[in-house]
Amino acid sequence: MPRMSTDSWLADTRASYDTVAASYAVEARAAFDAAPYLRGALTLFAGLVRADGGGPVADVGCGPGHVTAYLHEHGADAFGIDLSPAMIDLARHDHPGLRFEVGSMTDLPLPDASVTAVLACWSLIHIPDREVPGVLGHFRRALRPGGLLLLGFHVGAGSRLKTQGYGGHPMKVYVHRRTPDLVSAWLRDAGFAIEAQLLDGPDDTVPGALLFARRPADDDLRPEVA
Ligand SMILES: C[S@@+](CC[C@H](N)C(=O)[O-])C[C@H]1O[C@@H](n2cnc3c(N)ncnc32)[C@H](O)[C@@H]1O
Repeated sequence: MPRMSTDSWLADTRASYDTVAASYAVEARAAFDAAPYLRGALTLFAGLVRADGGGPVADVGCGPGHVTAYLHEHGADAFGIDLSPAMIDLARHDHPGLRFEVGSMTDLPLPDASVTAVLACWSLIHIPDREVPGVLGHFRRALRPGGLLLLGFHVGAGSRLKTQGYGGHPMKVYVHRRTPDLVSAWLRDAGFAIEAQLLDGPDDTVPGALLFARRPADDDLRPEVA
């Protein structure tokens, strides 16, 4: 595995997704339409948020915003945050009624206890292990006590450097695969309670995992954020 620079991975990820934003949007929408279990999990997520009384839902690493829009169609007050300005431009263009902002989950631009739920679907996959506790700390901090978190990620082990994608465009982005047990352990260490786990495509080469977790309702501690 190539060694990862400690300071350029975030800039490389941003530049990579700026480059592929338009072609990613086309492929991701088609893949989403062909993913009934993912859509079902998101419908459930939106329903749980409504059952909790509603409130803002942050789609972190929202890409072109199609999932944010899906949550909105299912009754969630969803808005998107993404590292890539080109992705945010696309999301704003395609979903003019919704709110999208540029930002990184490593320095999440949300006030404490300001959202009812956080979704991070196939975006934590670009965060190196050493940065994950800080990101989960931000999610916990931004969620109100009792708030819901849904993480989607590629199942497996190890990291690879993706050098092109989405129509052959150049990219320089690390993709980290993880087991649900590992991510669950990180979530528990970050103060979350795990509620459910779904394995999508267990016989696929790279299955997807969806983990539902909650900031405990009696969590009145101010979490340490690295
Ligand atoms: C594989 S795409 C997933 C997009 C969308 N969630 C979906 O389901 O199609 C990964 C997205 O995560 C974003 N991303 C990567 N690192 C991020 C970070 N540190 N903070 C916020 N977004 C990030 C990328 O810009 C990209 O839009």
